Amino acid sequence: MIELRSLTKTYGEGQHATTVLDSLDLTVSPGEITAVVGPSGAGKSTLAACVTLLERPTSGAVLVGGRDLTALPEKDLREARRGIGTVFQADGLLTRRTAAQNVELPLKHLGVVPAQRRARVAELLERVGLADKAHRYPHELSGGQRQRVGIARALALRPSVLLSDEATSGLDPQATASIVALLKELRDDLQLAVLFITHEMDTVVAVADTVARLDHGRIVEHGALVDLLHTPSSPLGRALLPRRAHAGSIAEDGATGPATQRSVWVVSHAGHRVPADWLVRASRALGTDLELLGASLSTVAGVAVGHAVIGAPGHLDDDDVEAALIGLGLHAQREESDAAEQRAAARTLEQPLEVVA
Ligand SMILES: Nc1ncnc2c1ncn2[C@@H]1O[C@H](COP(=O)(O)OP(=O)(O)OP(=O)(O)O)[C@@H](O)[C@H]1O
Ligand SMILES: [Mg+2]
Repeated sequence: MIELRSLTKTYGEGQHATTVLDSLDLTVSPGEITAVVGPSGAGKSTLAACVTLLERPTSGAVLVGGRDLTALPEKDLREARRGIGTVFQADGLLTRRTAAQNVELPLKHLGVVPAQRRARVAELLERVGLADKAHRYPHELSGGQRQRVGIARALALRPSVLLSDEATSGLDPQATASIVALLKELRDDLQLAVLFITHEMDTVVAVADTVARLDHGRIVEHGALVDLLHTPSSPLGRALLPRRAHAGSIAEDGATGPATQRSVWVVSHAGHRVPADWLVRASRALGTDLELLGASLSTVAGVAVGHAVIGAPGHLDDDDVEAALIGLGLHAQREESDAAEQRAAARTLEQPLEVVA
């Protein structure tokens, strides 16, 4: 279990002081993956450094397994750090050691005898699905496989907590998916408390049980993933929904009539409150057909969630369209309607969503 209590980190002094982490409270329980997301510079990596006490927090407490690391003298701290496995974006493997030798290092440093080391390394490589790559060097492995070796090494000393800072960033979707699956397995089998720091929202949806959004050093939103997805009014909930559909191709080819004659709406939904035939119902309520211009849906925890872009005939009143959609449990936002701006909007929608307040 990780507990952060009023964790504060200030760099510099006096006039030059900047508070990078501002009274953070966060708990990650055994068997739980908590994702911390936030824009660049929000303080995510500083948080990771403070959890391992590589950076001393200015104030507040970091408890791992109930023990306050900030209260420990350096020699006890070294031992306490063994309770935290760390995985970072750069895999940090020694290039002239094999996968097995890399995994073995922490055991060697601890003075574990060779026979025991070999047995443990075999077990760890098996655990991360790389038993057959034990004697490969890092350059002979894929990025995803190197990250798995890093995870095996992080687990060598049987930590209760796993800390990951952008461990999947830069990996292709398939490798990311395999790391995500591995982390979930470890969470369940070893009851690890996992603090998963990332800026990739798709990965958060795939891996997290709970999500905290960090902005300017403060946790501005925090909750269970499923609850957040069901709260389209929350910026984090909206950002977590599958990538927004884009209306570009349809809106530009003119097949459905000049774009200026309709209003375009981005509708987000979190399935459990929204009827499957919401488009038909909204059309009926408004007495005219709404057009589906694009959609992006996926299933998270058994619930369909996603975005749709719809067009409403220009003669309809915006308030009426919004009311009809909101009445069905949807969250609706009107996009700029003139053609040029609409094309611009379509391009923006193609880009991955960043969390914005
Ligand atoms: N040693 C330091 N001295 C002064 N300021 C620092 C130091 N380390 C980090 N900062 C500042 O703290 C802020 C947060 O940095 P941090 O690396 O934690 O952000 P991040 O959320 O991890 O960003 P990214 O997504 O780009 O990795 C930044 O404004 C950074 O300039
Ligand atoms: Mg960072």
